[in-house]
Amino acid sequence: MIHFHRVTLEYPRTRTKALFDVSLEIKKGEFVFLVGHSGAGKSSLLNLILKRLEPTQGAVYFAGENLKALRGDRIALHRRRIGVVYQDHRLLRDRTVEENLLFVLRVLGVPAAEWAPRVTRALRQVGLVHKKRAYPEELSVGEAQRVAIARALVGDPPVLLADEPTGNLDPANALAVLEILKGAHARGATVLVATHARDLVEAYPQRVVVLRAGQLVRDERDGRYSLT
Ligand SMILES: Nc1ncnc2c1ncn2[C@@H]1O[C@H](COP(=O)(O)OP(=O)(O)OP(=O)(O)O)[C@@H](O)[C@H]1O
Ligand SMILES: [Mg+2]
Repeated sequence: MIHFHRVTLEYPRTRTKALFDVSLEIKKGEFVFLVGHSGAGKSSLLNLILKRLEPTQGAVYFAGENLKALRGDRIALHRRRIGVVYQDHRLLRDRTVEENLLFVLRVLGVPAAEWAPRVTRALRQVGLVHKKRAYPEELSVGEAQRVAIARALVGDPPVLLADEPTGNLDPANALAVLEILKGAHARGATVLVATHARDLVEAYPQRVVVLRAGQLVRDERDGRYSLT
């Protein structure tokens, strides 16, 4: 589903080599944790998948397609195949929960008849149907993050990327977020989660890819890993 072939990424302005000769194959339906110290290259790797960055060397393939070949509208279409969650919720503050989700469905061109059931389903997946008329500021931090995940899932993307999705959350809320990500995985999504939170990995012992200073130094199958 996602394939990195000998990818090196250098940020031109600072000449920082954020990734060095990274090869990685993530199969459809896999759940992968991406771990590593701050600055190891996790967010850079996710941004390559979104084609927000281009590799300096090597290639990134998504569903068999070299992302380098994508231009114009096809870049937007590519990004619609990916749900993204960040550390902060990034919801539109002047729109309700429901409107935040509808915004995505409109952009995706989903027929209007499907909007209400889709919104209800996505909010049910995160346990927040009762908050659909609330504005982001009327939600707790944990609730807002769950809405952000509902927004990432409402379009039914085959791939879900999460960049430190529990970074702002207490342990109980972090585990609630993990449960939602597990649910998406169980329904068939390919899920890649960048995280510092070891207890998250321990709570769901899946594949763990370890980056250290831009290099892929470990690829474990059972959730056990070391950063050194
Ligand atoms: N826009 C940028 N321009 C120049 N260098 C950058 C840029 N973004 C990141 N870097 C550098 O690239 C390297 C990898 O950064 P990246 O953000 O991918 O790390 P990370 O693993 O996500 O770290 P964190 O856990 O702190 O989020 C770091 O050395 C960082 O300073
Ligand atoms: Mg990061």
